[in-house]
Parts: sequence; C-alpha cells; structure tokens
Amino acid sequence: MQLMVVKNYHELSLEAAKFILKKIRRLPTITLGLATGGTPKGTYENLVLDYERNQTSYRDITTFNLDEYVGLEPTHQNSYRCYMDNHLFNLVNINKNNVFIPNGNVSDLEKECKRYDQLIKDKGGGDLQLLGIGKNGHIGFNEPGTSFESTTHVTELTLSTREANARYFESIEQVPTHAITVGLGTIMQSKEILLLVSGESKKVALARLLSGKVDEHFPASILANHPNVTIIADEAAVSKGG
Ligand code: F6R
Repeated sequence: MQLMVVKNYHELSLEAAKFILKKIRRLPTITLGLATGGTPKGTYENLVLDYERNQTSYRDITTFNLDEYVGLEPTHQNSYRCYMDNHLFNLVNINKNNVFIPNGNVSDLEKECKRYDQLIKDKGGGDLQLLGIGKNGHIGFNEPGTSFESTTHVTELTLSTREANARYFESIEQVPTHAITVGLGTIMQSKEILLLVSGESKKVALARLLSGKVDEHFPASILANHPNVTIIADEAAVSKGG
C-alpha cells in the first residue's frame, strides 16, 4: 500500500481528482468503482471543475457504485443514486446507461445482489475502485466480521455507521437499517484501489490499517493483500509518528 499524506481535505480532494483524471485520460473506457459519503465530495467537485475547464470526457466510462440503502426510492434525496446524480453524473457527459448503482428498493434483494455482482464480474472487476473508510474499518458497507470472500450482499448497518450517517437525515430513526453493498471479495477484484482518508475521526482506523494486520474484524485490512492500493490521507488522519 502506497501512502500519500497531504496537508488537508482541500489538498486531498485535488490529489484524488488528479489521480482519477490521469487514469481516465490514459484509458477513456475505464471502469470506475465509486463511493459516496462525505469524503469523496471534494473529489467529485474537482472532477466537475476539470470537466468545465478541460472537457475531459466521461462518455465511454462505466461506473459501479459500492452501495445503496435498502428501502429508499432511487429518487429519495438521501439515496446514493441521488447523491451521485447531484455530485457527478448530472454535471459531466457520462452516459447514464453505463452508470450502475444497486437498487435497494426492489422486492427480491438477493436477486438484485446477484445481478449486480455479475455485472461487475462481466466488466472484469473494474479498473479503479475509489473507497472511503468508516471509523470501524468498514469499506463499502462491509461491516466488521464480513467474510473476505463476500460478494454483493445485503448488510445490516451497525449503530456507529447509522449514527455517522444520521447527519444527512432528520433523525437517526430515518437512517435505513440495511444496505446493499459490494462485497470485500468483489472489491478486491478491482485492478487498482484508491482509498481516501480524511480527518481526525479516522485516525485510529488509518493507524490500524497501516499496521498491516489482516483481520476480518477490521474489513479494510483486506487491502493489505491487494497488489495496487494508494491511500491519500490528510495530516489530521495520520497519527503523529505513524
Ligand atoms: C459509501 C461507502 C462508505 C463510506 C464510509 C466513510 O459509499 O462506501 O464506506 O466511504 O462510510 O464515509 P464518510 O466519507 O462520510 O466518512
């Protein structure tokens, strides 16, 4: 795992966008795995700014999002479909037929998980997976204890994850209890991984990840087994001396 430490969230967002743009320019048909949440917002902002300035084309790109809440309509303002439309897809020239996000609002969730996982497999696992990390080490919504072999599945969100995401809802009761997430085994099939870590609240998680100890109780630790991982972290997220 390569670690790049930058000064603050602003720099992290610039560096992450630069990293992704370099890959897009090198491979205009790239398949990207995308994350939502607070951390990548600035990265998407920079991708959109670049699009406005340089018209980097997204026309031939395919994207797969990591996760979606169960029970929210895709048009719900807190759905990850809506997040992606608002932060990226509606603002660049991406072909929406090449945009994939699990649908958490179907009656047969198992079937949806299988369908989604197969779509990713058909794309060879993807070229670059963008990730954030939860305080408990979750990646996607793979909570502690998730099998390292897992494929796309329905997961019960932990209280700490629901609390962290309650900031986007009126109250914690409104935060869905379940989500569909791409599994750890599927994430590992991406040829390359870019993990973004920002802020003091992620310090303990980052230190644990960098310790290199691989443990199913800390899902992100699986990344130590991947041959091509870059971590961009800001100074607040990096422990002194670590
Ligand atoms: C979201 C996702 C999650 C987040 C993680 C960190 O698609 O996959 O693993 O990356 O919960 O969220 P933030 O960035 O809000 O701290």
